[in-house]
Amino acid sequence: MIDSYSSIVELYQKSKHLPYRLLEQHTYLSVIGDVANKAVLDLGCGSGFYTRQFKQRGAAHVVGVDLAPKMIEAARTEEARAPLGLTYMVEDVAALGNVGDFDLVVSSYLLNCLPTQALLRKACQTIFANLKPGGRFVTVNDNVQQAPETYALCERYGCMKSLAHPLEPGTSLEEGTPILLSFSIEGQPFSFNNYYFSRTTYEAALQNAGFKSIQWHQPMLSPEAIQQFGRDFWNDFLEHSPITVIECSG
Ligand SMILES: C[S@@+](CC[C@H](N)C(=O)[O-])C[C@H]1O[C@@H](n2cnc3c(N)ncnc32)[C@H](O)[C@@H]1O
Repeated sequence: MIDSYSSIVELYQKSKHLPYRLLEQHTYLSVIGDVANKAVLDLGCGSGFYTRQFKQRGAAHVVGVDLAPKMIEAARTEEARAPLGLTYMVEDVAALGNVGDFDLVVSSYLLNCLPTQALLRKACQTIFANLKPGGRFVTVNDNVQQAPETYALCERYGCMKSLAHPLEPGTSLEEGTPILLSFSIEGQPFSFNNYYFSRTTYEAALQNAGFKSIQWHQPMLSPEAIQQFGRDFWNDFLEHSPITVIECSG
């Protein structure tokens, strides 16, 4: 796997202040629910933004895994500055295998980074292999059902998606199509690719790995998001949501 993230660690961290992150965090953490006393595995943890929050919310044991050495270096630096007892590993999720028995496996924007169906299937196998019986997998992901013609409507929320070639009228995205995610942080642009796979492909990969229940959750408004921007500001985001949360159990 290619590491596209080590060069953008700081800018990616700063992107956590973009408006759409308010709904991302509220929806993702609401679906995850109570983590008290749970063992949590955070795959594609980046610099540990959520990894730390799970421990701060009472998880018993949290492990973060990421392919990008610089992301894990930043996570470990923060752990050294303010120790929480987190464990971080530099590993490719597709080749990770079993590293423990977790109540909860979580990931934020990992599956949409994977460029092939084979890697998506392997990542889902890794996720299932690390769950205790009865455990859950929750991920926040690119909303693969967002129509590309609505991408531009979500730019004011800080979420800029684009295709290298506009879709021909009447056609839909092909499996594996790169979707460019672009951000502008304090006037500095940066971007990376996500890869499109259909909801059917995601569900097949998750079911083949062993998951029986798969639920897709739309973003939810939070009191903070309404207070900061007003309710109407979020209308396009809620109607043409660029992100989704997927919740799976065995
Ligand atoms: C968009 S970033 C999200 C980081 C973090 N989860 C967050 O929300 O702040 C995606 C992360 O997934 C990691 N990643 C991509 N492919 C991976 C793989 N095959 N194995 C492990 N990590 C991977 C990248 O290095 C990157 O840090």
